[in-house]
Amino acid sequence: MSNGTTGNVHLLDHPLVQHKLTLMRKKEASTNSFRRLLNELSMLMAYEVTRDMAMQEVQIETPLETMTAKVIDGKKLVFVSILRAGTGILDGMLTVVPGARVGHIGLYRDPKTLTAVEYYFKMPQNMQDRDVIIVDPMLATGNSAIAAVDRLKELGPKSIKFVCLLTCPEGIAALQKAHPDVPIYTAAIDRQLNDHGYILPGLGDAGDRMFGTR
Ligand code: URA
Repeated sequence: MSNGTTGNVHLLDHPLVQHKLTLMRKKEASTNSFRRLLNELSMLMAYEVTRDMAMQEVQIETPLETMTAKVIDGKKLVFVSILRAGTGILDGMLTVVPGARVGHIGLYRDPKTLTAVEYYFKMPQNMQDRDVIIVDPMLATGNSAIAAVDRLKELGPKSIKFVCLLTCPEGIAALQKAHPDVPIYTAAIDRQLNDHGYILPGLGDAGDRMFGTR
């Protein structure tokens, strides 16, 4: 997949990714098609974000002979979904890497201060042995992403990546300032944030569009 990388930001600019994202942005996209497209897009993003995943060699028997072949160790990988909108990306990623473990962080945005407030945190055991991929469709103010990485770093995982669908210069700057070691994977970098912390032109509230709650 073609991939534009600047610093620690990976822009996933494959035509299939961009096409599906455009369909999702349209205000007339139904809840059903929004969810389906997010699922398909997440599978494509999983392909890119797992590109450097560690592999191991195993002995297998083909119908003709024995050979040494490569497999990934999905059990070492943890997808961490930021509730609730991360669920949409998580589902697609698990389709592609079914052996991965899953963690959840519940964070909501205080509507006045836009700061992240934690209400849930549940991770697999032995996080120090694992590579973490955090998923959340929108990297907007960066507050939730920073809070999630802060918490995860307390558990000392081997690595942390952050995957979103959409971001903006403000979100990238905030996350990179707080955590310059965490690479960001995104399908688009939009123009700006508005006064309510929404990305412009964006796609609206990802959770509401995914679950049909507005
Ligand atoms: N969260 C959303 O769902 N949409 C935005 O534009 C910003 C944050």
